[in-house]
Amino acid sequence: MKILFVCTGNICRSPMAEAILRNKLNDAGLSDETDSCGFESFHVGDHPDKRAQTVCRKYGLDISSHVARLFRKSDFDRFDRIYVMDSSHYFNVSRTSRSADDLKKVDYMLNLLFPGQDLPVDDPWYHDIEAFENTYHQLDSACDKLVSLIILSKKHRQ
Ligand code: 4NP
Repeated sequence: MKILFVCTGNICRSPMAEAILRNKLNDAGLSDETDSCGFESFHVGDHPDKRAQTVCRKYGLDISSHVARLFRKSDFDRFDRIYVMDSSHYFNVSRTSRSADDLKKVDYMLNLLFPGQDLPVDDPWYHDIEAFENTYHQLDSACDKLVSLIILSKKHRQ
C-alpha cells in the first residue's frame, strides 16, 4: 500500500503524519510506503516548521530532512490512498482528480477515527507549540487506526 498525506504547506501536518506513519509501519515490520505534499507553493523546497520538528523530535522522529513539495496529478497513479487534513485540501485534490477511481482514493485523515464526519486535523501554523503537540496526537491516533486497517487488509488478501 502507498499512502500520501496532503496539507497546505507540507511543512507541518502532512510531514508529521508521514513520519508518524513510517515509524509505525516500521515498528509493525511493514514495508508500505508513505509520502506527503502540499497545495500551496509558499514553502516548496523548505524543511518542516521548527515547531513541528521539535514536537516530532520529542517522540523520537526526525523530520528535519523532509523537503516540501506540491501535490501533482501523477500522485493519483503513485498512491493507493490519499489522506487530506481539511476541506480545503479535499476540494483541491478532488478538483484535480481525473476519474471516479482517482476520487475514491481520497479521504479526510480524521475519517479514520470518525468515519464520515469530515472533521479537520487542527492547523497549528498560526498557534503555539501546544497546538503542534495537539495536532501530533490527532495524527498519531489516526495513524494507529491506519496501521491496523493496513494489517487487516493484508490478512484479508492472504
Ligand atoms: P501545513 O501548515 O499545511 O500543516 O504545512 C501550514 C503551513 C503554512 C501555511 C499554512 C499552513 N501558510 O499559510 O504559509
